[in-house]
Amino acid sequence: MSEVDLRARVRALSLEQKVRLLTGADFWSLHPEPDAGLRRVVVSDGPVGVRGEAFDERSTSANTPSPTSLAASWDVDLAHRVGRLLAAEARRKGVDVLLAPTVNLHRSPYGGRHFECFSEDPLLTGEIGAAYVRGVQSGGVGATVKHFVANDSETDRMTVDARVDERALRELYLAPFERIVREAGPWLVMAAYNRVNGTTMTEHPLLDEVLRGEWGFDGVVISDWFATRSTDESGRAGLDLAMPGPDSPWGQQLVDAVRAGRVDESDVDAKVVNLLRLAQRVSALDAAEPPAAHAGRPEVELRRSAAAGFVLARNEDGLLPLNTGGMRRIAVLGPNARVARTLGGGSASVFPPYTVSPLEGLRARLGDEVEIVHTTGARSTELLDPASASLVTDPETGEPGLSVRFLDADRAPIGGEHRTSGKLIWMGSFGADVPVDAVGFVEVRGVLRVQETGVHRVGVAGAGHFTLTIDDDPVIDGVLELPGDDPIEAMVRPPQRTVGVPLTAGQEVELRLVHRVAPDAIGTTFTLGLEQPARGEEDELAHAAELAASADAAVLVLGTSDESESEGFDRDTLALPGRQDELVRRVLAANPNTVVVVNSGAPVLLPWVDDVPAVLLSWFPGQEFGNALADVLTGDAEPGGRLPVTWPAAEGAPLPSTLPQDGALDYAESIHIGHRAFERAGVEPAFRFGHGLGYTTWEYTGADVPASIAAGEDVELRVRVRNTGSRAGREVVQVYLSREGAVERPAHWLAGFAAVDVEPGEEADVPVRISARAWQHWQDGAWCTEPGAFTLHIGRSLGELPIAAEVKVEP
Ligand code: BGC
Repeated sequence: MSEVDLRARVRALSLEQKVRLLTGADFWSLHPEPDAGLRRVVVSDGPVGVRGEAFDERSTSANTPSPTSLAASWDVDLAHRVGRLLAAEARRKGVDVLLAPTVNLHRSPYGGRHFECFSEDPLLTGEIGAAYVRGVQSGGVGATVKHFVANDSETDRMTVDARVDERALRELYLAPFERIVREAGPWLVMAAYNRVNGTTMTEHPLLDEVLRGEWGFDGVVISDWFATRSTDESGRAGLDLAMPGPDSPWGQQLVDAVRAGRVDESDVDAKVVNLLRLAQRVSALDAAEPPAAHAGRPEVELRRSAAAGFVLARNEDGLLPLNTGGMRRIAVLGPNARVARTLGGGSASVFPPYTVSPLEGLRARLGDEVEIVHTTGARSTELLDPASASLVTDPETGEPGLSVRFLDADRAPIGGEHRTSGKLIWMGSFGADVPVDAVGFVEVRGVLRVQETGVHRVGVAGAGHFTLTIDDDPVIDGVLELPGDDPIEAMVRPPQRTVGVPLTAGQEVELRLVHRVAPDAIGTTFTLGLEQPARGEEDELAHAAELAASADAAVLVLGTSDESESEGFDRDTLALPGRQDELVRRVLAANPNTVVVVNSGAPVLLPWVDDVPAVLLSWFPGQEFGNALADVLTGDAEPGGRLPVTWPAAEGAPLPSTLPQDGALDYAESIHIGHRAFERAGVEPAFRFGHGLGYTTWEYTGADVPASIAAGEDVELRVRVRNTGSRAGREVVQVYLSREGAVERPAHWLAGFAAVDVEPGEEADVPVRISARAWQHWQDGAWCTEPGAFTLHIGRSLGELPIAAEVKVEP
């Protein structure tokens, strides 16, 4: 349909009809408008799966590797395939728009959503992000590039004013958005919560002047959830859609503003045209048929892509791949060996249909040949595990799981459901037949048939009033208060109360948790936690060391979880949670053949790293974690990743703080984030940007580089690499630039990259595109090229750049 037709449809609507379309119908959908031929459109998070309209373990979603993992692959084809897989998931779940990818930068690893963003580098972020968007949209599903812009940390995210100079804004924070808009044509961009240089992003002139005006964006600007804060200013600005609904500062107030002449009706019309254009793209007009989405076999893709993102950071004496031939016993240890930590916390979480833990994956792959022994050794979480269907049964039906009842203010039942996990989230709805404002209490019951004699830990995590009884004996009764004022904290950083209960094997007890729902709440969230008897911390550490000593090798899986890496708050330490560092030392002392797998979405400190022979960084790798890990540890697959972020060796400088002062966060480091900051400060990180060993060795034998180029031109270099090892492998050719000149610059900046698969002994001639932008800097409101000689550095990471060549840029 032409633009003229779209405009004609808008003209046929009344002002009230038009304005109604500009606020969500509910949390996850947009209003239909039969007079415009428009059906209901559904949106969903993103980015590691498609959650759908329910935040609920019964509505499962394929869980892809975290964005840090995708970026660590440096593989645009892989990001495209993952995007296609997500489109197929979206279609399966009736979703038209995915609220992803997140392309804010890793300004600092303290940023809580670091795991959800690709990289510290704007080029890598832009290229991987563009491929992801193309993949999603190739399946007829809209991608939403978020959060526009400078939402790089979480502290005071609703109000913080990011003070960013023009150059850093253009060269770093806007750059991935620009690349994706220009190269991939995303159908939506999400306006962030924060302010930038004094103006909140849902009203910011950057939307009209830069995003639409300069870059030609013709999609929908959707607000982050509850980020629309005004009627007139946001009505006049480039924002198109206020989410969620049904209420927002628009609605009748925007109708009144138009009638009073404070907002032009043409502004409203432009928003509705954008919305109908989106509807057309996602086949939501005139009962159109969407294109076929190609799912492939998600488990195969997810397994392969997880391994492709694993970064082999250290491998002394070729300990990896493990030579299991002569082994009788392997100790698979660590808290994250037992529970796969496949994703981070907040809106980016989904409920995978299954997860393969490292322990399960290694047992499945090696269990017939080698004895696998396991203990956790330490904890990586403080919150109790949610009560699981393997421990409790629903007293109403006898099925594994829990019974939930919704009660009104007088405690009369008004609905109920069967659940299989104690982690419970209702957002905007308590289910189709339960009026959201009628729910006064939620009651959860489960029967525990005790499997092991000993002290069980039970508890609740959430906000508000809770009563927990065991066989009618109250064990917890009181109010839990949130630490801050962001409502998402109830989900991502809830306070917890626990109690130890001695129980005897064979005994049956009923757990009953009653939560009082806050008045006017449009949902609630809390977790009923339950854990079986466990050793004390000291005994657990000692037991892990004993098992390691009894084995031929130890695989120690450590890390974080959605509890420490999440939307809604920043990290205050990069140390591994709990006593995991101590666990490494104890296991290493007991068995020097120890491989440490670090399962985190973002960098953590590894104070023991020089003493451990092999360190593999897995990120949050999605539901196939354990299988991918077994593939990589045994050598069936190569750990193909390279660091998309500098891995620091210590807390603090040169990492910028994420703590605002007087409501403002000063990006004082300007263009020097990530490796640029480390190089400028002369600080050696634990692992440099781009680092990753893989399982073979490489020689850079030459490169064809033009002696001069014209400013404003894209160039293609050719780099020759030889696989000098004895197995096939994948190399990521990286090209950096440096420049001594009048303009202040980072020591090096990434200018291009390309991944290549090469057979042993073979040489490959690898094309690497360097776009004109790589040579440019932002000055006085424009992109400029400083004429003269730049130096190109080519190699396998920022720490290993064997080829250097001069290129003169002619004005
Ligand atoms: C997040 C967005 C997300 C939205 C909807 C917000 O809190 O910042 O990334 O898409 O919620 O869940």
